[in-house]
Amino acid sequence: MNILVTGGAGYIGSHTCVVLLEAGHEVIVADNLCNSKAETIDKVEQITNKKMVFYPIDVTDEEAVERIFADHKIDGVIHFAGLKAVAESVEKPLEYYYNNTVSTMVLAKACQRHGVEKFIFSSSATVYGENEVPFVETMDLLPAANPYGETKAISERILMDTAKANSKFSVSLLRYFNPVGAHESGFIGEEPTGIPNNLMPYVTQVAKGKLEKLQVFGNDYPTPDGTGVRDYIHVMDLAEGHVASLDRLTPGVHIYNLGTGQGISVLQLVKAFEEVNGVRVPYEIMGRRPGDIAESYADVSKAEKELNWKAKRGIKEMVRDAWRFESQLPAAQK
Ligand code: NAD
Ligand code: UFG
Repeated sequence: MNILVTGGAGYIGSHTCVVLLEAGHEVIVADNLCNSKAETIDKVEQITNKKMVFYPIDVTDEEAVERIFADHKIDGVIHFAGLKAVAESVEKPLEYYYNNTVSTMVLAKACQRHGVEKFIFSSSATVYGENEVPFVETMDLLPAANPYGETKAISERILMDTAKANSKFSVSLLRYFNPVGAHESGFIGEEPTGIPNNLMPYVTQVAKGKLEKLQVFGNDYPTPDGTGVRDYIHVMDLAEGHVASLDRLTPGVHIYNLGTGQGISVLQLVKAFEEVNGVRVPYEIMGRRPGDIAESYADVSKAEKELNWKAKRGIKEMVRDAWRFESQLPAAQK
């Protein structure tokens, strides 16, 4: 199939391009590079020894998107493009609402004009809010604690209503838990700009000596060791989940949690990182980070049953591959 991948130069998008190309699909990437580099496109091509078509465009730009659909017979869209920094979304809500919801509408409209029926959307576990764990797809969503989370809930509703009005539209809403790690080659991975907000890139930079020590946000949560519990998923498993979902997409809206189903605490992740990689990660305990919840992990039975997909890589592979990627980056970078 010819798959349009928006945000294909980004972290999850680039890994998914690798899996799509290896599965024999043609890939057209649209990315404005606001949080990524064009060289990632070349690296994906080197890993797979296959070519992609790259449009350096903003997917909120209706005319630019129209040109892609006019140039190619698109069979499906995987919409990764979006702004994702939670704290920044509180400071710049309009930028987040505009970018993340208008892009979804522009792409869904282009699909309608061109009879493209397959649409996969990057949603997030954040839409569950502070529900009871494990999070199940049938749960009522609770208000997100920040504008970023709301953009995901709104985009989900836009796509649900679009599918209601068009019986052929086939939508997969993939709710990612916490993607970490990198391609096994160490060639592509997560490269946040500035000081990382997320745990794993912070840990890799402390291990490398770029940052002095990890700040553990809270050790008084009602969890086994008091630190926050998350469902970390290897980015290659997540990438494979997209292709499984694409292969089985049927008309209507399908919601899937993509996680491992296993909760891991901050201190467990740090310990696994130190043991597997033989490096030290100094840390200090701080107060809780505003907006954080104690626990987030998935009920993954629906994806297992309907997509015949299951995360294969565990925490050891996640910390090993995250470190392999960080280790080959130049020390001065970032
Ligand atoms: P990322 O920032 O690495 O990738 C997003 C890509 O989209 C970047 O390459 C960026 O340049 C591009 N982009 C953003 N706005 C664009 C626009 N208007 N037009 C064209 N390109 C644009 O982020 P990621 O971690 O790969 O996340 C991919 C998607 O998954 C995002 O929608 C994100 O919200 C969602 N998600 C991520 C996580 C996570 O923890 N990484 C968790 C849940 C959901
Ligand atoms: N944490 C620390 N120190 C840090 C960073 C994080 O202790 O420097 C802790 C957090 O308090 C939390 C855990 O590590 O307990 C994970 O935090 P992350 O920031 O890595 O991830 P979150 O679960 O807070 O959020 C991430 C993305 C969201 C997404 C969500 C669910 O940032 O965009 O996963 O997919 F919505």
